[in-house]
Amino acid sequence: MLIIGIAGGTGSGKTTVVRQIMDEMKNEEVDVISQDSYYQDTSHLSMGERKKINFDHPKSIDFDLLVAHLKELKAGNSIEEPVYSFQEHNRTKETRTIHPRKVIIVEGILILTHTDIREMFDIKIFVHADSDERMIRRLKRDINERGRDLNEVLWRYQTTLKPMHQQFIEPTKEFADIIIPTNRHNTVAVDIVQTIIKDRLA
Ligand code: C5P
Repeated sequence: MLIIGIAGGTGSGKTTVVRQIMDEMKNEEVDVISQDSYYQDTSHLSMGERKKINFDHPKSIDFDLLVAHLKELKAGNSIEEPVYSFQEHNRTKETRTIHPRKVIIVEGILILTHTDIREMFDIKIFVHADSDERMIRRLKRDINERGRDLNEVLWRYQTTLKPMHQQFIEPTKEFADIIIPTNRHNTVAVDIVQTIIKDRLA
């Protein structure tokens, strides 16, 4: 099994890169695990307390569970990925079954900060977009898809997103094998990744 890690700041275009990589593969060959599914269980907290959580700090992620799940998949066993709600700021009661595949993609802002997980990746990718571009994308997504308002997104950007990006996310670029720029349309980088995947699977 090939495990590919795709990191990059919020709004950098990770989801698009994942989709482009998967486009060239058969459904039964590949699946994606999102770091967002592994936010810590917050069932014991009130809604007010949950809203104050710093969701861009490595501590907010249950990396132990993610490591355990990757090990299970590597051993040939299926896992139950938690399903996360951005409205509730918590895991839901549902899970999604993920079966072992030829290729497992793990995507998320902080996945390259964790040594054990980093060492499990066969290919490490960092998706780059300028911070103004990322903020615009984030603003649109949080308002359109995650039920947030303008002031909340801007407040979160200034107080946590930006400092956490500088402190934890940007430095992990140095661990990447490949850095994919997404400020403008680019097919060459994804073509290279697809070639590497085909080569490794052959
Ligand atoms: O999809 P993306 O990689 O951007 O998702 C990570 C972002 O989700 C983080 O920047 C974090 O601030 C945000 N988040 C949120 N509300 C939550 C959990 C995470 O806005 N409850």
